[in-house]
Amino acid sequence: MIETDRLRLRKYTMEDFDVLYEILSDPETMQHYPMPYNEEWTKKWITWNLDNYEKYGFGLWAIELKETGEFIGDCGITIQNIDGEQLPEIGYHINKKHWRKGYAKEAARACRDWAFNNTDYDTLYSYMKYTNVGSYSTALANGMKKIKEYPDPHNEISYAYAITRDEWEKVIG
Ligand SMILES: CC(C)(COP(=O)(O)OP(=O)(O)OC[C@H]1O[C@@H](n2cnc3c(N)ncnc32)[C@H](O)[C@@H]1OP(=O)(O)O)[C@@H](O)C(=O)NCCC(=O)NCCS
Repeated sequence: MIETDRLRLRKYTMEDFDVLYEILSDPETMQHYPMPYNEEWTKKWITWNLDNYEKYGFGLWAIELKETGEFIGDCGITIQNIDGEQLPEIGYHINKKHWRKGYAKEAARACRDWAFNNTDYDTLYSYMKYTNVGSYSTALANGMKKIKEYPDPHNEISYAYAITRDEWEKVIG
């Protein structure tokens, strides 16, 4: 479990299905993905993360508001193909009811700190479709810099952002 001022990050369970489906099936939320998710893909999202916890010791974690216990989205680390390399990536998905309240930034920073404190990775990444302003703004707010733009069959063009361990040490002082 990771805690921040307002958030608690915990492992997914199958009981998160309904609220996760509300997020992943929403066309506006998924506008930068090839298409919104159906029920089957949403179930696979949870089982993929349960497998990631076993395999890597991390994955996307469910985000709850500490004050109410409400499940509002996810954030965490997964291994992603970024321009042909398998790299540790910080991802985030927030229920649109809660956009622009700083929750993605708060969760992403906590996941970044967790990864540098608990893994040997020397660089962490975030990548997104070039149109996904919310996503790359969150990467910037997480102390990352844009390192490349590259053609991506799923995204037309993807942007990759990164922060090194040395840069992180300066950010956290
Ligand atoms: C991307 C996403 C997670 C951001 O969540 P959020 O909780 O609204 O983000 P925050 O409020 O923490 O904002 C983080 C930073 O991004 C900026 N930001 C967020 N959304 C933005 C938008 N649509 N346009 C411009 N800036 C935006 C905020 O101003 C903030 O920057 P600042 O701290 O420098 O002021 C959310 O929009 C989302 O769930 N999108 C759909 C799923 C998705 O595409 N995920 C990324 C996949 S690559």
